Amino acid sequence: MMCGQMLRIPIKTASRAYEAVIEPGIISRSGDILRELLGKGRPLFVISVSRVRRRWGKTFEQSLRAAGFKPWTIEMPDGERFKRMAVVESLAEKLLQLGADRSAVIVALGGGVVGDVTGFLASVYMRGVGLVQVPTTVQAQLDAAIGGKTGVNLRAGKNLVGTFYQPQLVLIDPATLATLPAREFRAGMYEALKCGIIGDRELFRRLENTSIEQLREDPELLTSTIAQSVSLKARVVAADEKEGDLRRVLNLGHTLGHALEAATAYRHFLHGEAVAWGLQAAARIAWERRVCASSVYERICQAVGSWGKLPVVNVETRKALAYLQSDKKTESGVVHFILPKQIGAVEIHKDVPRRVIVAALDEIRRASHA
Ligand SMILES: NC(=O)c1ccc[n+]([C@@H]2O[C@H](COP(=O)([O-])OP(=O)(O)OC[C@H]3O[C@@H](n4cnc5c(N)ncnc54)[C@H](O)[C@@H]3O)[C@@H](O)[C@H]2O)c1
Ligand SMILES: [Zn+2]
Repeated sequence: MMCGQMLRIPIKTASRAYEAVIEPGIISRSGDILRELLGKGRPLFVISVSRVRRRWGKTFEQSLRAAGFKPWTIEMPDGERFKRMAVVESLAEKLLQLGADRSAVIVALGGGVVGDVTGFLASVYMRGVGLVQVPTTVQAQLDAAIGGKTGVNLRAGKNLVGTFYQPQLVLIDPATLATLPAREFRAGMYEALKCGIIGDRELFRRLENTSIEQLREDPELLTSTIAQSVSLKARVVAADEKEGDLRRVLNLGHTLGHALEAATAYRHFLHGEAVAWGLQAAARIAWERRVCASSVYERICQAVGSWGKLPVVNVETRKALAYLQSDKKTESGVVHFILPKQIGAVEIHKDVPRRVIVAALDEIRRASHA
C-alpha cells in the first residue's frame, strides 16, 4: 500500500538530474530511501530548527538509524532573520568539529529558511558536498526545495547572496504539514494556485473547487496538489535552470507581492498572502491590457477569495511603486510583469503603464476592505 502511492517526479536540470519523491508518511521510510540512493553508512548531517525537530526529528532520525546511518543533527535558530551568512559560518564550524569531510551529505529538515541556508551551506562547504532536501512547510514542499536556488539575506534585502545548487533528492512528506498553523498552510497553497495559472489548468480547476480545509484534511488531494505544483516547477526549471526569461514565469504574482511585503517591512503579510494579492493584481492588469478575458480575471479573483479573507492592503501607492522599482528582479529599472493569458498560460510584459499598475493597486486595496 505504501509503495503504491509514492509519486516520483524527475527534475532534470543542466547541472544534475534528481527526483522529488512524494508520499504521506514517507519520512518514516526515509532511511531506506537514502541508503538506496547514497549507499550504506554515508556520513549524514541533518540541519533543522527546534520546532521541526521536536515534531518530526525523532521519526526521521529513527528511520535513518534503522537503515544503518549514524546521523548528527545540528539545530539552527528559527526564523527568516537567521537566514544569514553568520549562521552559515557557524554551521560550517560545527560540521568541521563533527568531522564532516567531502563525503558528507547534508540534509535540510524544515521550511524554506532551513532549506535555503542548508542548500547554501552544502554548496560551499569543502567546495560542495551532497545535499538532500526534506521540506516540511507547504512553501518549501512545492517551491523552495525544488530547483536549486539557495541563499541568505543581507541587511539591504532578501536572498542577495546565494548559489544555484541542486540536491540529490527531495523527500516530500505531506503528512508533516499537519503540524503547521492553518495560516501558514493556506499562505503556501496560494503558490499552488499560482502554478495552476502558469501552466496547469486541471490543477487550477481542482483548487478553485476545493476549500482550504478540504485540502488540509484529504491526504490524496493534498498529495496530488503538491505533486502537480512540483511538476510544474520542475518543467520550468528543466528548461531554464538559472532564471532566464522562462524561469521568470514562476514570479507570477510576485512582482507586486514582493512590493507589498517590503513596504510593510515583512510583518503584515505572510509571503503567500502577499502573492495572493499579487495574483489578483496581475489578473487585473492582464484584463486591462487585453491580455486576458474578463472571465479569466474573475476566475482568478474568485479562486483566491474562496479561501477566506486576506490581510488588508494598506500600502500607499507611492510606497508600493517605489518598492516595485527597487525589486532585485527589475532589469535596469524595467519592471517585468507576468500576466495570465488564460488559466494555464502566462506571458511576460515589460511595458505596463504606471496608471494601470496604480489602478490594480487601487482595486486590491478596495477588495481588501470589502
Ligand atoms: N529557494 C527557493 O527557490 C525559494 C522559493 C520560495 C521561498 N524561498 C524561501 O523560503 C523561505 C520561507 O519558507 P517557509 O515559508 O517555509 O518559512 P520558514 O522556513 O521560516 O518556516 C515557517 C515556520 O514554520 C515552522 N515549521 C516548519 N515546518 C513545520 C511543521 N511541519 N510543523 C510546524 N511548524 C513547522 C518553522 O520552524 C518556522 O517557524 C523564505 O526565506 C524564502 O525566501 C526560497
Ligand atoms: Zn513565492
